[in-house]
Amino acid sequence: MVQSSSQRIAVVPGDGIGVDVTKEAVKVLEGAAKRFSLPLELVHFDWSADTYLRTGISLPAGAFDDLRKNYAAILVGAFGDPRVPDMKHAADILLGMRFQLDLYVNYRPVRLLADRLSPLKNYGKGSIDFTIFRENTEGAYVGIGGIFKKGTPDEVAIQEDVSTRKGVERIIRYAFEYARARGLTRVCMADKNNVMRFGGDLWLRVFDEVRAEYSSMESSHLFVDALTMQMVKDPSQFQVVVTNNMFGDIVTDLGAALQGGLGMAASGNIHPGRVSMFEPIHGSAPKYAGTGRANPMGAILTVQMMLEHLGHGEAARVIEQAVIEAIDRKQTTADLGGDLTTSQVGDRIAAAVTGEVMAGR
Ligand code: IPM
Ligand code: MN
Repeated sequence: MVQSSSQRIAVVPGDGIGVDVTKEAVKVLEGAAKRFSLPLELVHFDWSADTYLRTGISLPAGAFDDLRKNYAAILVGAFGDPRVPDMKHAADILLGMRFQLDLYVNYRPVRLLADRLSPLKNYGKGSIDFTIFRENTEGAYVGIGGIFKKGTPDEVAIQEDVSTRKGVERIIRYAFEYARARGLTRVCMADKNNVMRFGGDLWLRVFDEVRAEYSSMESSHLFVDALTMQMVKDPSQFQVVVTNNMFGDIVTDLGAALQGGLGMAASGNIHPGRVSMFEPIHGSAPKYAGTGRANPMGAILTVQMMLEHLGHGEAARVIEQAVIEAIDRKQTTADLGGDLTTSQVGDRIAAAVTGEVMAGR
């Protein structure tokens, strides 16, 4: 069991730029741990395409039990490698964690940290600030279905989209509770019940039931296609959005673009009260691996989110402030207009977090 005096963190860099950005995220995490005397113990795992190709094993038997029992949180980089075209190891590890650890809340804030990163005219810091809750354990991701008469002209493929009352209710309720705890008043549920007649019907009925318990809030419903348009047209109208697994996957890439690109977006995969997993939203971008071009800020903001979740709010705030200052001073990678490498950005932010002054910058 986790000793009450220490919080053990599993660090899983994964593949491609996941390795590069996690190194910087860990630098910042260690800096914050030092400055605020956080009782963290980091344990590194090499679960990745390399390990899978070498051993044929994506992660060892008992790994999920170990995480469940002995860890407070998991920090992940990214998965995906062209040498594993079916993404078998990624599915085993990433979707494995989401499903086996029952991490039903995919928490994806959409928060613009600097006006100059906004892709939208007339929308800056403060007017792009909302949170998307993506259901994380059901939907099209359950992998139920099959292919019949594969490779013939009569081929049939079926991919089921699973929604359970329990699954739908707990994510919708979480979204309302999150809003209430923060004094927010607007919750929007997005689905596609004009076409997805059965799953969508369940989502809408459960939403109606749950929203009735939060009558002081303005709850609304949008079809997910309309949500994408509204997110671009006027993102300031949103505070909390809740949607299913696949729609949530899609709209959070759009959300990432609203905060300056995929390199800036962080996420948490949460089961309240149990071990939870934190990862940047971006993928492994194999062609940029090791080039120093990957933006580590999404991974660093993921550390911020993890620390907040673990009850280290002050350390989290200091990290966010250091990221904002780095952006404002253009101490960034090229995607945000700067000329620093991945590790220079990490060094700069870690130094600001520990309170050291960097010579020359
Ligand atoms: C994400 C990713 C994953 C997903 C992939 C890598 C399976 O796109 O976390 O958004 O689809 O959930
Ligand atoms: Mn995605």
